[in-house]
This record gives sequence, structure tokens and C-alpha cells, in this order.
Amino acid sequence: MTGVGVGPGDPELLTLKAVRVLREADAVFAPTTALDKPSRAAQIAHEATGIEARALVFALDDTGGLTEARTAAWDEAARVVLDAFRGGALRIAFATLGDPNLYSTFTYLAHTVAAVEPGIRIRTVPGITAMQDLAARAGVPLAEGREPLTLVPVAGPDADRALDAVDAALAGTGTVVVYKGGRHLDALVAAVERADRREHAVLGTDLGLPTETIARLARRSATTEPGSGRAPYFTTLIAPPARGQRGGAL
Ligand SMILES: C[S@@+](CC[C@H](N)C(=O)[O-])C[C@H]1O[C@@H](n2cnc3c(N)ncnc32)[C@H](O)[C@@H]1O
Repeated sequence: MTGVGVGPGDPELLTLKAVRVLREADAVFAPTTALDKPSRAAQIAHEATGIEARALVFALDDTGGLTEARTAAWDEAARVVLDAFRGGALRIAFATLGDPNLYSTFTYLAHTVAAVEPGIRIRTVPGITAMQDLAARAGVPLAEGREPLTLVPVAGPDADRALDAVDAALAGTGTVVVYKGGRHLDALVAAVERADRREHAVLGTDLGLPTETIARLARRSATTEPGSGRAPYFTTLIAPPARGQRGGAL
């Protein structure tokens, strides 16, 4: 079974290898939150290859941590995949947003499938991540010279701790990227301001989709910021450090 990264949204961001593996697969699956809801990964895979992936339901928007709903979904999805495998689909592909080794449902599915059927080889095809797409589109280098790059997910049952981690990273010398933080937009903007990093920080939502927005935090006025202080789940924040002279971090 191969986890195939399909990038954040733009179908042109699939690699040639991702397209080939999807086309050669005997069965292609993709995650969704409910069978009547579209799967973003399936839509991207379809636009890039014409292939219709079969949607598997995962508790993708469950914020409760390791919940029963999540584990039941992994088990059920693994059962469907194993049925396909035992029915003769030897080359199984699972299309997943961004990269399959970065906060991807594929990790949990692969773990579950391998535990039941150790004979199945697990592989991945890397994909363009949301932070890479946002960096490219906004013209913001993610790291220079000796700068560290810190990616913090602001999600789960203990978001306050995650926000503390954002503050700690912003106090350092490198770029801070925040994933899964849409619900906490006000707190994130405040943290970026406290760290005096608002000028170069960028926020991208729904990258590669018709609803996409890309905005510098410095240019977001009070009127354009969502009144509720929330942004969509598909929101990525990049807050680079202040950079002085060319090559100053070398
Ligand atoms: C479960 S993680 C998936 C990450 C993905 N595997 C990657 O490599 O980028 C979901 C988070 O990734 C970010 N993300 C993924 N796709 C995005 C998009 N199209 N636009 C903005 N952010 C996105 C958001 O921060 C979102 O909350």
C-alpha cells in the first residue's frame, strides 16, 4: 500500500511519480469526513489523473485526541483496504493531502493495515506540503543559514499548550509555521504581534482551491479578519524572523 502525497490543492503540484503510482494502482482510496462530503485528496487526484478514488471515512475533524470515533474509523478503513487487497488489488494507493509523512491520516491507516497483514509493504510517495506551497506563493523563504524551522500544530484537546509552544518557537531565531490553528486565529495573531513578527508573517487558507486566500498579517485590517477570530481548518501561518543583511544567518 502506497500513501501518495497529492499536495495541498493545486493539481499541478503532484509529482510525476505520484501521478504514475495513482494511475498504476489497482485500487485508489482517499480520506473524507463523511461519505456525503467531498474528499479533497480525491478531488485533487481526480483533477490530476482523471482517476476516481474511493472515499474512506475518517474522523478528520475530531479535536478530542485519540477518541473512539477515530480508532473505529481507522479499523473500518483498514478493513475495506484489506478486503480490496484480498480480492486481488495488490497495488493499493491512498491519496493524501500534502505529504503522507506529515500529519497524515495515512500514518494511522498504514499502522493498522500492517498490524493485521504484515505481508503488505508500506511505501510513500512524497508530496508538496501546505507550508511549501504557501512559502512559494508568498515569496517567503522558510529557512536561511543557521535558522531553525519549527512546525507547530495547534490542535487537540490541549490547545493552550500548543499556543505556549508557538510562543516559545516565536521567541527563537527561526521561522515558525503553524498548522491546524484556524480555530485559534486571534490567539495566533496576538502571539505573532507579541513576538514583533507581524510585518512578514503570512496566512494562507484553502491553498490551491477556489476559496483560497493568501494575506500578509501586516496588511489584514480589522474588517478583513473574521469576526469570530477563526479561520478554516485548512489554514497555514508562516512567521519568519526579522532578517537583516543578505546572508546574515549564515
Ligand atoms: C492534517 S494536516 C495535513 C498536512 C499535510 N499532510 C501537509 O503535508 O501539508 C492539515 C493541516 O495542514 C495545513 N494544510 C493542508 N492543506 C492546506 C491548504 N490547502 N491550505 C492551507 N493549509 C493547508 C493546515 O494547517 C491544516 O490544518
